[in-house]
Amino acid sequence: MSWTLAITGKGGVGKSTLAAMAVRWLGEHGRGPVLAVDADPNTCLDALLGVKAHHTVGSVREDAKKIAQGGIGKQELLDLKIQESLIESDQFDLIAMGRSEGPGCYCYANNVLRGVLGRLAERYPTVVIDNEAGLENLSRRTVQVADVLVFVTDPSFRGLTTARRLYELALEMGITAGRMGVVLNRARDTECVDRARAVFAGTPVEVLGALPENSELGQRDEAGDPILGLPANNPVYVALNELMKRCVESAKVTVGAV
Ligand SMILES: Nc1ncnc2c1ncn2[C@@H]1O[C@H](COP(=O)(O)OP(=O)(O)OP(=O)(O)O)[C@@H](O)[C@H]1O
Ligand SMILES: [Mg+2]
Repeated sequence: MSWTLAITGKGGVGKSTLAAMAVRWLGEHGRGPVLAVDADPNTCLDALLGVKAHHTVGSVREDAKKIAQGGIGKQELLDLKIQESLIESDQFDLIAMGRSEGPGCYCYANNVLRGVLGRLAERYPTVVIDNEAGLENLSRRTVQVADVLVFVTDPSFRGLTTARRLYELALEMGITAGRMGVVLNRARDTECVDRARAVFAGTPVEVLGALPENSELGQRDEAGDPILGLPANNPVYVALNELMKRCVESAKVTVGAV
């Protein structure tokens, strides 16, 4: 049984940055092998992790659609094609969902794919999912989306109230997770943690912690340098340590269960 961390939030708040750092941290702390899932159609987690996703699941979705139309369940073929889209590295494996090609209804194809991806994920003790902004791809799930669902936000009051609205929307949509937490990214002070506690008071959302504003992250992003190369003493990565420890608390991880 995999332990899954899913990351969501509004646009540009640092979801992919957090996902890439979490993949690295989990690998370094004996939770690997980690499956990184780039669920954003605008694939970008690969660059942050320093690999290139040449194939995405998008093209496999076309095959799943054809199979659905022909009424034949060639699950093995899909398993094989998903395997071809998988990028394997020493520290992690990555699968990029991409976008579906062409018009039409992909509901059945997406259902078939979910089964195939579920089987893939089961082979890893740890899965990290970087979602597109908003809740759309989480809402397509019929079961619990993750062991820990993290809402990333900037630390401003406005950012926090938007994150709270996203949480309420998630509840309305029936999205469930083992635990829910909020991460304050690009923090400039420590008061933001108290602000977040006040905004999320009365909800089960835990304030997992704050990551500081750090110019090195922006510079690396501009230069196209992967997060995996970030020095371990970078203040954001140091702050991530406490936050991730809180995240994996009560994690149902069976190390080595591949
Ligand atoms: N703590 C930080 N300090 C400084 N810059 C940061 C920090 N976190 C993220 N950034 C920068 O913010 C920008 C957006 O980050 P990122 O791409 O991770 O956001 P996102 O939420 O995944 O965006 P999208 O909604 O487009 O997927 C990047 O340039 C990244 O380097
Ligand atoms: Mg992103």
